[in-house]
Amino acid sequence: MPDLKINIAGVEWNNPVTTASGTFGFGEEYGQYFDLSALGAVCVKALSAVPRLGNPSPRIAETPMGVLNSVGLQNPGVEYFKENYLAKLKTYDTKIIANLCGSSIDDYVKAAEMLGDCVDMLELNISCPNVKVGGMAFGTDPRSTEEITTAVKKVAKVPLIVKLSPNVTDVCEIAKAAEAGGADALSLINTLLGMRIDIHTRKPVLKNNTGGLSGPAVKPVAVRMVSQVYHAVKLPLIGMGGISNGEDAIEFMLAGATAVAVGTAGFVNPYAWVDTVRGIEKYLVENKIENVADIVGKAELY
Ligand code: FUM
Repeated sequence: MPDLKINIAGVEWNNPVTTASGTFGFGEEYGQYFDLSALGAVCVKALSAVPRLGNPSPRIAETPMGVLNSVGLQNPGVEYFKENYLAKLKTYDTKIIANLCGSSIDDYVKAAEMLGDCVDMLELNISCPNVKVGGMAFGTDPRSTEEITTAVKKVAKVPLIVKLSPNVTDVCEIAKAAEAGGADALSLINTLLGMRIDIHTRKPVLKNNTGGLSGPAVKPVAVRMVSQVYHAVKLPLIGMGGISNGEDAIEFMLAGATAVAVGTAGFVNPYAWVDTVRGIEKYLVENKIENVADIVGKAELY
């Protein structure tokens, strides 16, 4: 059988598949469907130093090829996570990634300090498009990106992944800023800012007016950005955006992703994560490739 192990910023995963933050809660729901040890890593919903209520409802809307969400980083806070979810997650043979959010640099630093080394990796969420302060505001400006990355890296006890927004003119400029700030890896893409309007009420479908689009519709944008960033920085990448199966995952890996995250697909198929692992393995067997790491960045660009 092919070797599915990957190494990302010094952390070895059993396979390249993780969960996209915010689509998997804290593992308790999908843990009823399959053994989470089947995943290379589990990335939990964004966590802040103090609990957040999120945005008012409605905050989810379907679209023809995806979902718009405006959750607003609702979460129970780092302390609650540590006391109520972490022990169970640690029973699985998988790596744990905590996605970090906040409204100010101090908030992010505090959350990173509170987590310490009780998870395997941190993912700095500077790309959520659904909050008025923090989130994407940091990740759409190179100076803010570097500043917040430097501040969190200074206190981080485990490798730091910076999650990039697609809502920028030049994603490579932001990726380079994160690299300059000391990021150990990058993940991309977060959701694309979108909007739906109810033609009968003439009001936006989401109470927040806008939301972040995820799902198959965003996949070509995500593959393009992964390819661009792969050629712009030296950091390992976690690719995501519309991945539903092994073939999608292979496309991202050929573009330059060392690992991949599946998210929205899990809302229609709760086994999408394990199907993706199996699909990657099938591709490697069919193409007689012994090591999954050998396909990373192997797309032959014109
Ligand atoms: O609104 C949200 O909680 C979304 C978070 C994100 O896109 O990172």
